Amino acid sequence: MKIVAFGASNSKKSINKEFARFAANQFNSTALEVLDLNDYPLPIYSVDMETEEGLPENAVLFHQKLEESDLIIISFAEHNGSYAVVFKNLFDWVSRVNLKMFEGKKLFLLSTAPGPRGGVGVLEHAIDRFPRHGAVISSVFTLPQYHQNFSETDGILDEELRAKFMEKVNLIESI
Ligand SMILES: Cc1cc2nc3c(=O)[nH]c(=O)nc-3n(C[C@H](O)[C@H](O)[C@H](O)COP(=O)(O)O)c2cc1C
Repeated sequence: MKIVAFGASNSKKSINKEFARFAANQFNSTALEVLDLNDYPLPIYSVDMETEEGLPENAVLFHQKLEESDLIIISFAEHNGSYAVVFKNLFDWVSRVNLKMFEGKKLFLLSTAPGPRGGVGVLEHAIDRFPRHGAVISSVFTLPQYHQNFSETDGILDEELRAKFMEKVNLIESI
């Protein structure tokens, strides 16, 4: 099973990238790639630019990464209740490459934030929207209060949250 994982953030110290990497490492995968959205810089989506210049190479390359995967793990940064701009922009460009960019893929959707809601608002947006792009959402998980509940060396610290998380990983692996 090939896994592609990324944090939907462009922060160099993204907690969602860290969480996505942790999640991906819990699977018995034959191939794992953790992507950094900073490696796929894109202009702000514009209909005029698309008409005049076509699709940017990075949108096509990112779409290829999704295509090559069996399981896609995304951990969403929440900005004012919604996607971080870098993700929305990428999503819009990639939707012009292929509207059904998640067709035939299993998705494990995550969010984390320093606050007690853990970015559940943005996760709900993705859960509502992604099936329209072909996604089969295998499972979802929100980690609240990242700095209290997570360590880079030990992963999820809270026993109950860790058990719930691993239940979801095991469920996805059994599908
Ligand atoms: C512009 C902006 C808006 C934010 N809005 C929210 C929010 O709506 N909910 C939330 O839980 N955290 C919010 N935060 C805090 C983020 O959760 C925090 O910056 C987190 O580290 C983002 O994830 P990342 O490190 O993966 O980029 C916001 C941060 C910024 C900079």
